Amino acid sequence: MQDKLNEIEKAALESLTSINDPAAVEAWRVTHLGRSSALMGVFSGLGKLSKEERPIVGQAANRVKVALEAALEERSKLVKAAVLAKSLEEDHIDVTLPGRTRHIGRLHPSTQQLRRVLDILAEMGFQVFTSREVETDEYNFQLLNFPPHHPARDMQDTFFIEADPPTGSGQDRGDNPILMRTHTSPGQIHAMRKFAAANPQDPPPIRIALPGMCFRYEQITARSEVQFNQVEGLAVGKNITFADLKGTIADFVRRMFSEGARLRFRASYFPFTEPSAEVDVECFVCGGKGCQVCKNSGWLEILGCGMVHPNVLMNGGYDPKVYSGYAWGMGPERQLMLRNKVGDIRYFWGNDVRFLEQF
Ligand code: DAH
Repeated sequence: MQDKLNEIEKAALESLTSINDPAAVEAWRVTHLGRSSALMGVFSGLGKLSKEERPIVGQAANRVKVALEAALEERSKLVKAAVLAKSLEEDHIDVTLPGRTRHIGRLHPSTQQLRRVLDILAEMGFQVFTSREVETDEYNFQLLNFPPHHPARDMQDTFFIEADPPTGSGQDRGDNPILMRTHTSPGQIHAMRKFAAANPQDPPPIRIALPGMCFRYEQITARSEVQFNQVEGLAVGKNITFADLKGTIADFVRRMFSEGARLRFRASYFPFTEPSAEVDVECFVCGGKGCQVCKNSGWLEILGCGMVHPNVLMNGGYDPKVYSGYAWGMGPERQLMLRNKVGDIRYFWGNDVRFLEQF
């Protein structure tokens, strides 16, 4: 019996040395230590032995079992270590490889500039008032002192929501067609009416910025797009003068462009302001000497402004004998073009990431 046990042990230990993977380790365990292994056969045969033989064989079999278990444990550790070493070798990461760059999302340049403008205006005490993009002719033109058929309407070619009447029908669109706003100025009327409604006898003063998209039915070129943002400013109160307008615009220009930015007011015409002006800043590109960007004038136009026309104040519910006000309209895309020397307005809605990524 002792010989048989020695043989079992020897055969088992020998076969263990050639085992190199976890599945074979498990198979070895089943073969040599499992329920139907030769060793277990010895244990289950103990009952048939004599009283004297039983403890001797039992002890000897136990010793073989302990030895095989210890050998199994050791082999299994070796195999696991080998497997780990192999996978580390095969799957190793080359930390010197350059990483894959990710595209990081960001705000559209127009949104960035719009926010810059509104941040500055907020510091200066202007509250944001948003107004609709789809308007009526009444708000977009008539209440802003553009009479029907007035030639000033030609300054702003319009997208109408309703279909064109058939040509030669002699019909027109009626008195108050629905249209896409051509400027943010109709928001002035909405705002004044809303503020005045709070106290019609003595309407409160107003100091607001009206941002938003505007639409014009124009040929798209490097200088004009069918849609663009504007930021309208409006201040209404008692004793507001042109000096307030000049001071406010000058302050804005210095905060937006540079402390030393020079600017000038040039007389102009808008139906909804009287007097009206356009504001130019000294060309940032050439410093006023004259270049391509400023078309050799040394100046860049940045906005239109003026004192709110008495008819417009009245239409908003503010008595022009008691109240006065100033207003302006400026374009964030235009400011960005001037600031960053963007030569073509079409880049803004062209969705070319090579352009957008630069902001
Ligand atoms: N609405 C004008 C435009 O789009 C811009 C403008 C000019 C707005 C003068 C104003 C203003 O409020 O006073 O061309």
